[in-house]
Amino acid sequence: MLIRRPADILPSEITDPAHYRSRRQFMTQASALTLAAALPASVTHAAAGSLGPLAASPLSTTEPPTSRRAVTSYNNFYELGTDKADPAENTFRLKPAPWQLRVEGLVNKPRTFGIDDLLKLAPLEERIYRMRCVEGWSMVIPWAGFPLAALLRQVEPQGSARYVEFVSHYDRATMTRGVLDWPYVEGLRLDEAQHPLTLLAVGLFGEALPVQNGAPIRLVVPWKYGFKGAKSIVAIRLVEKQPLTAWMKAGPSEYGFYANVNPEVDHPRWSQATERRIGEFAKRKTLPFNGYANQVASLYGGMDLRRYF
Ligand code: MTE
Repeated sequence: MLIRRPADILPSEITDPAHYRSRRQFMTQASALTLAAALPASVTHAAAGSLGPLAASPLSTTEPPTSRRAVTSYNNFYELGTDKADPAENTFRLKPAPWQLRVEGLVNKPRTFGIDDLLKLAPLEERIYRMRCVEGWSMVIPWAGFPLAALLRQVEPQGSARYVEFVSHYDRATMTRGVLDWPYVEGLRLDEAQHPLTLLAVGLFGEALPVQNGAPIRLVVPWKYGFKGAKSIVAIRLVEKQPLTAWMKAGPSEYGFYANVNPEVDHPRWSQATERRIGEFAKRKTLPFNGYANQVASLYGGMDLRRYF
């Protein structure tokens, strides 16, 4: 995000499907299969990569999803390269299985979870969310996942825990060096983390998460800019002080801790008043809290959202 200037999304920016289809299908299926192998029988499906029946969520938007091709080929995942097409081309740099997620810090029951443990915490739901990137584009993505709150209940946050820090996998030997101070770190206030909209996603379009979208598990917070959604998470820490995120370290005047979608507060380089939904030509008006104000505005009562951007 520091590197690329905003550009209208031209079809030519998205790799020609014929160019990568066979390779991507293989990589997607490979990661889907490894996750499927870890799934309990109840959610394993005969079809490769399918997550099986997913509970429909009343929290889903009825807007039509963006094409799977765009969702899985136009990505920000800087550890796998800084161009939008890089992550899908570099999936071999991240092995999503076996995987462990440590949940630690100010909790009564710190624990390391495997993917199979995580999938037992709550039924997987399909959540179709509007997603808004700070660079000015947006998508509608049918995630599969479970509320982060279900995981937090398991570890029992202590009274002194006020924030939650998320740490992505990083391997200096195989991943991008420079650009950010790795690993990628993000954070939420504890009440934001416990909000029913806040999701830990393990899939999209009914299948296991492709590597480029953050396999095997990533954060999704639909009322915030996309950069809050840390990918390929290896640690979640309950802490007392506001975490210093990777983007705040890189550009404190550009990237705030809250990062709530707000058409009235521009990023220094990008207006946030409008957005381009991938697949559409006309720009749309960006909605406060990305259209989730009814559910989340009360979290920020009395706060100056220009100051806490
Ligand atoms: N997580 C990690 N670890 N590394 C990243 O570079 N990019 C963020 C976020 N999570 C990023 C990340 C940004 S800027 C966005 S917009 C979203 O992931 C993009 O998610 P998507 O590619 O699945 O649409």
